[in-house]
Amino acid sequence: MKQSVQTLQQFAIESAYKVGDIHLKYFRKDNQNAEIKSNISDLVTRADKESEAYLIEQITYNFPDHNILGEESGNHEGKHKSGYRWVIDPLDGTNNYNQGLPVFAVSIGLQYENTTIMGVVYAPYLKELFTVIKGEGSFLNGERLKVSEKTELNECVLGTGFPYDKGTNPINNISNVAAILPHLRGIRRMGAAAYDLCSTAAGYLDAYWELDLKPWDMCAGALIVEEAGGEIFHFRNDRNISIIAGNHNLIEKVRTFIK
Ligand code: IPD
Ligand code: CA
Ligand code: CA
Repeated sequence: MKQSVQTLQQFAIESAYKVGDIHLKYFRKDNQNAEIKSNISDLVTRADKESEAYLIEQITYNFPDHNILGEESGNHEGKHKSGYRWVIDPLDGTNNYNQGLPVFAVSIGLQYENTTIMGVVYAPYLKELFTVIKGEGSFLNGERLKVSEKTELNECVLGTGFPYDKGTNPINNISNVAAILPHLRGIRRMGAAAYDLCSTAAGYLDAYWELDLKPWDMCAGALIVEEAGGEIFHFRNDRNISIIAGNHNLIEKVRTFIK
């Protein structure tokens, strides 16, 4: 049986609230059990693991035919062939989380035949729920979102981030920051790609760029930007997913500085 996208979103919202409870249970506590993943900058905590396990269990139970891609556990194939794939980041912003900084979120995207049709990003400490259905706009706690209309770089505050292999890979965004920062009002490194994209959708950041993102960092957030009237521009294809998000005219200016 094919569920309506509204039903699927309701499930995603309820799951995101439950995951938010898992995040808050260990936030600013000393029992996070942080471990190193790819290198010393790249951590995983028990909140990442418990959140992912909860989401996989819920999706598998409720939608056994759906496929799942989860950051911490990879691909899970549905029982029978189905065009649905959930793309989940159980805790985006793990470094913030581990430091006690409040910008972290769970990101849940849903694709049908490789097109993202629905997304939910929930930042539990901030109590911010971002939701989107393709063709129906994007929302923050029920209020419709719209990207910034600014186009003059010197009036703009942009978000960005740096890859975990910044110490060993020279394509690490440092020269991009040096090139564009003098032309901007300011730059923010908020530390959670899904939240950066949602902030761009809301116009709190005028634009955002980052290289070396993974599908779970941006699946839901990219649709949230697009449904707020923004665009996603892929500026290189040799560093996983490398994107500029914002309004069309601003992207055209930003891309002249970013490699
Ligand atoms: C990371 C954050 C960070 C970004 C990294 C991501 P994680 O996700 O979104 O802001 O710069 O590229 O990997 O590891 O906290 O889920
Ligand atoms: Ca992430
Ligand atoms: Ca994560």
